[in-house]
Amino acid sequence: MRTRVGFLGAGRIARALAGGLLRSEGDSWELVASTRTRESGEGFGKAVPQARLYSEERNCDLVRESDIVFLCVKPQEVPGVLRQIQPATAGKWIVSVAAGVSLAALVAEAAPSARVIRAMPNLPVLIGRGVIPYCLGPGWDAGDREGAKKLLRRFGEAVEIDEKLFPLATVLAGCGPAYFCAFLAPLLRFAAESGLPGSEARRMLLSTFSGTAELLRQTDLDPNEAVQESRTPGGITHAALTVLEQREWPETLRRALDAALRRAKTLEEA
Ligand SMILES: NC(=O)c1ccc[n+]([C@@H]2O[C@H](COP(=O)([O-])OP(=O)(O)OC[C@H]3O[C@@H](n4cnc5c(N)ncnc54)[C@H](OP(=O)(O)O)[C@@H]3O)[C@@H](O)[C@H]2O)c1
Repeated sequence: MRTRVGFLGAGRIARALAGGLLRSEGDSWELVASTRTRESGEGFGKAVPQARLYSEERNCDLVRESDIVFLCVKPQEVPGVLRQIQPATAGKWIVSVAAGVSLAALVAEAAPSARVIRAMPNLPVLIGRGVIPYCLGPGWDAGDREGAKKLLRRFGEAVEIDEKLFPLATVLAGCGPAYFCAFLAPLLRFAAESGLPGSEARRMLLSTFSGTAELLRQTDLDPNEAVQESRTPGGITHAALTVLEQREWPETLRRALDAALRRAKTLEEA
């Protein structure tokens, strides 16, 4: 089956979602994306050469020509785009990934027969290994609910959540890849400065982290216990963790997460 998918906005997350769809098995996809400026479209065109590109004036055409539409513009651009596409939304599936934009706001602007999904993908959706918390607007029957889940599973783990948990899901799953990479980058710098070639250090560290994640997944081992397993008193791990604790690493991380959650809630109320 050939499914027509439109992306309103062709930036970072639209590229990741389009890549994830194209890598997933089964259906084939006909993709179209729109942008405000030509430069943004060129980036998408390089990453997804099979997609057609429209300018923002053709947003309504894009929606009419699509079965499923991903709304991938910045949150402050959502109201204007929704007003523009409203006449074309009848019967369409509209998936908004815009942070802080509520289901109520989406439903209010879409045609009554449109079916609306609010979702929060993270970057590994590009390889089908993302996490995508989501909630559904009104009007979904049981068959379509299953279809929505099947669609989102193409990007990785699709988790239906209560809408009030969106800020927290964003802080954990949406921002998670950035926390991990912000932690990895100094480790790689340290490895390079200490004499391990970049590609070897990268392979070694990525295998270490993915192996540890898999160990926790398969054994239900508690992370605190896992730390104690590798922390021999007076040993090497102990030396590193002692410095992190002296610098109040857990408290610092907690302050960072509190700041992220406050920001996510502010966006929700805007
Ligand atoms: N980045 C992430 O990891 C991530 C994760 C989850 C959710 N999100 C959400 O995804 C949305 C987009 O984020 P992003 O990081 O992908 O931003 P981005 O890279 O800035 O992309 C936004 C895109 O929207 C286009 N655009 C702006 N106004 C438009 C209009 N009227 N019609 C059509 N296209 C228009 C922009 O075109 P121009 O560049 O030409 O202006 C650009 O291609 C945000 O709402 C964000 O909350 C992002």
